[in-house]
Amino acid sequence: MRTPIIAGNWKMHKTRDEALEFIYAVADKMPDKEKIETVVCAPAPLLRSLVKRQGDHLRIGAQTMHESDEGAFTGEVSAQLLKELGVSYVIIGHSERRAYYNETDESVNLKLKQALKTGLKPIVCVGESLDIRESGKTQEFVTDQITQAMQDLDADAMEKIIIAYEPIWAIGTGKSATSADANETIGQIRAHLKALKGDVANKVRILYGGSVKPATIQGLMQEPEIDGALVGGASLESSSFLELVHYSD
Ligand code: 13P
Repeated sequence: MRTPIIAGNWKMHKTRDEALEFIYAVADKMPDKEKIETVVCAPAPLLRSLVKRQGDHLRIGAQTMHESDEGAFTGEVSAQLLKELGVSYVIIGHSERRAYYNETDESVNLKLKQALKTGLKPIVCVGESLDIRESGKTQEFVTDQITQAMQDLDADAMEKIIIAYEPIWAIGTGKSATSADANETIGQIRAHLKALKGDVANKVRILYGGSVKPATIQGLMQEPEIDGALVGGASLESSSFLELVHYSD
């Protein structure tokens, strides 16, 4: 059995006061971490404050990191520093980073290796644009992203990796993939991982992301291949985040 994960991605939202208000509202209301892993991925300057107040059942993640140990990379944050701050997860290769900050399949692969080396749990994002979907090439595109991201990784490492399938056309648009469509593509990702790395693919958690809301989470989580959600807009309000993480109550 794969433990489900519900992860919020705040993107570039919230002041420090807003972040503290959120964490105080949710920290002691999280589900048992053995049953559901819950994560909030916040802007870097907020991470330490959130880690200090995360409570027993909530973990904190970063939204990106650099692939090098250290160096002359102005503005970047290393995996080691995140780890030292008490951060547990890191999003890698979000489509917004790919679109606006030149993140490539190659850098995703390097960051993934660096995160694993450092002991951060990577959440690797893949997903197709509307053009690709409409031309019927979703499976080909997404599985190629997976092949490149996982290059040179041992099967042993796979269990620690979390994948998020986030179709670009569904992000922030209110147009979610249907549960059945998300399940189908995630099933294809898992089959591809199996072909690449063997049966360990059955242990990899694969999340869906793209306009997930409290009203849609249950339908998604009922699908056999979907192991959780990476949620943007609906993770910002504490009440909505609490509804998401308690989808099974
Ligand atoms: P929304 O839930 O706002 O569509 O964002 C999805 C996302 O990009 C999460 O990483």
